[in-house]
Amino acid sequence: MTSAPLPTTTFDPQALRGDFPILGERIGDHPLVYLDSAATSQKPQSVIDAEVAFLTRSNAAVHRGAHTLAADATELFEDARASVAGFVGAEPEQLVWTSGATAGLNLVAYSLGNASIGRGGAEARRFALAAGDEIVVTETEHHANLIPWQELAARTGAVLRHIPVHDDGMLDLEAAANLIGDRTRVVAFPHVSNVLGIVNPVAELVALAQGVGALTVLDACQSAPHIPLDLPALGVDVAVFSGHKMLGPYAIGGLYGRSEVLEALPPFLTGGSMITTVTLDSAEYLPPPQRFEAGTQPVSQAIGLAAAVRYLEGVGMDAVHAHERMLERRLRDGLRSVAGIRLLGDPSTSSGQVREVERVALSAFDVDGVHAHDVGQFLDSRGIAVRVGHHCAQPLHRRFGLTASVRASAALYTTEDDVDVFLDAVSGVRAYFGAGR
Ligand SMILES: Cc1ncc(COP(=O)(O)O)c(C=O)c1O
Repeated sequence: MTSAPLPTTTFDPQALRGDFPILGERIGDHPLVYLDSAATSQKPQSVIDAEVAFLTRSNAAVHRGAHTLAADATELFEDARASVAGFVGAEPEQLVWTSGATAGLNLVAYSLGNASIGRGGAEARRFALAAGDEIVVTETEHHANLIPWQELAARTGAVLRHIPVHDDGMLDLEAAANLIGDRTRVVAFPHVSNVLGIVNPVAELVALAQGVGALTVLDACQSAPHIPLDLPALGVDVAVFSGHKMLGPYAIGGLYGRSEVLEALPPFLTGGSMITTVTLDSAEYLPPPQRFEAGTQPVSQAIGLAAAVRYLEGVGMDAVHAHERMLERRLRDGLRSVAGIRLLGDPSTSSGQVREVERVALSAFDVDGVHAHDVGQFLDSRGIAVRVGHHCAQPLHRRFGLTASVRASAALYTTEDDVDVFLDAVSGVRAYFGAGR
């Protein structure tokens, strides 16, 4: 069915699995087959060790104390920033720590809201939204890149509009070109949808937004662990990602911003650690990134995330991407061959051939006659972990006439065997539930 040759894996995923202790676990009588990496990734021992080592030997408050331990902790914390910034092609001062992508997207939306009520002075005026201005998102958004914009629209009187998605999961770029216009102030979109797995055309969307002077906000949650990323080269103004999806700890994420954007944006959260001078009536703020990092920071998590990106870089992001492309093809070709399965986001040519589009190893699908939750339980009884539900993308599911789907997603530690065990189990689902064979 597929004509192009499969990408090849240049590392031994079986050997690499030894670095991830949880992958040796069993679920009942079955070895764990973990296909839920888009929800959260598993962690290599080096990430766990990095956090433990920091907490065991170097823990102290960063940027505050004058003692040796505090200086060591501060150095480790800032080294971690440099490592994670480097992983996405950015400078350290362009990376703000957040507690995750959701926090990062809220940070941008609330900062724009503050600019809209005059905070941040003259420099921030270009970010102010007024009644009738437009914020453009896509129909494919995770709720984290939708609701903060709904709230910003409600606070400012701006109008939220969306770029529709075609039946095959591709964004409607013609509609985008018509939609993005003089009133557009923000264009926010995912690099990769967490339901469709398709890599969106960032360059085209950035060009449309730049053409009207709109701010671009990229949700890079589902690309950062899978594709070599150079955020400055993508040309976006702001991008966010979550540590726990890229082999790192929970409660840590990154917000990348172009320097001129971060320097002009007013802060969202305020308080300790983000100021230069404070009187009882007013405060002056530090430059970015500290301006956006009020309060005590997730220090051990940042150090764990730095270990995670070192691990990914050790394997090599080109190698990770090639391995996952191979898995993606195996996964989707396999699912296509199972009767009664409808894949979401499955572009094909007019003659029914698979259309090659750039994507990550993530497939969401509906099984005719069987509820997604039943599919999930059936798979779980065989040790296979997948995600079922709306995956925090209700509008997209509604677009496809669904309330829920099943999603299988891979990472660098996923093997062809994992995919085959999954496909074998899925092929028995409809018969098991009496929905066909
Ligand atoms: C595309 C996308 N955006 C945003 C998020 C939110 O990430 P977090 O819950 O880590 O903040 C997710 C998580 O599933 C996601 O897949």
